[in-house]
Amino acid sequence: MTALAMAAEFDDVAGWTADAVEQLGVRHAVPAACRGSASPAALAWLAEACELSRRITLLDVGAGVGGPAAWAAERLGVRPILLEPMPAARRAAARLFGLPVIAGDGRRIPLRTGSVDAAWCLGVLCTLRDKAAVLGEIHRVLKPGASLGLLVVVARGP
Ligand SMILES: C[S@@+](CC[C@H](N)C(=O)[O-])C[C@H]1O[C@@H](n2cnc3c(N)ncnc32)[C@H](O)[C@@H]1O
Repeated sequence: MTALAMAAEFDDVAGWTADAVEQLGVRHAVPAACRGSASPAALAWLAEACELSRRITLLDVGAGVGGPAAWAAERLGVRPILLEPMPAARRAAARLFGLPVIAGDGRRIPLRTGSVDAAWCLGVLCTLRDKAAVLGEIHRVLKPGASLGLLVVVARGP
């Protein structure tokens, strides 16, 4: 995606999403803030496969407006850390869910090596050219043997 398209899709629309949720009501927050992973059934499957449990730290790389991380916090009691490069998306996640959000890029995660219990990266790799750099950084910050949950949209044709 071009930088302009990324900003329109992941920054402007993120801000509008938070505005809409404030008008519609808080029960709409999680579904509205899942941008690429909106199915609760898919998140439940992924959470089980990643063996997420209470109080573990879950780093959500490219967390967007924070719906998946908020879902995992509410349902499973994990402690999410959101990493997101787009300012309006970060503000929306903080406004809607009060979750800790770090400003940053998945290619340079500002966390210590081996410091994270589990990570998600949902609907992010499919928007990036340099997928290996993001995967390498996530691998660096995860504890040895920790789980990584990915959602990647794969084109099967032109
Ligand atoms: C389709 S949205 C998915 C958001 C969220 N993971 C979800 O499932 O609701 C893709 C997200 O990846 C973020 N993103 C784009 N480039 C990134 C990068 N280099 N590092 C981390 N996140 C990035 C975008 O800002 C956007 O919030």
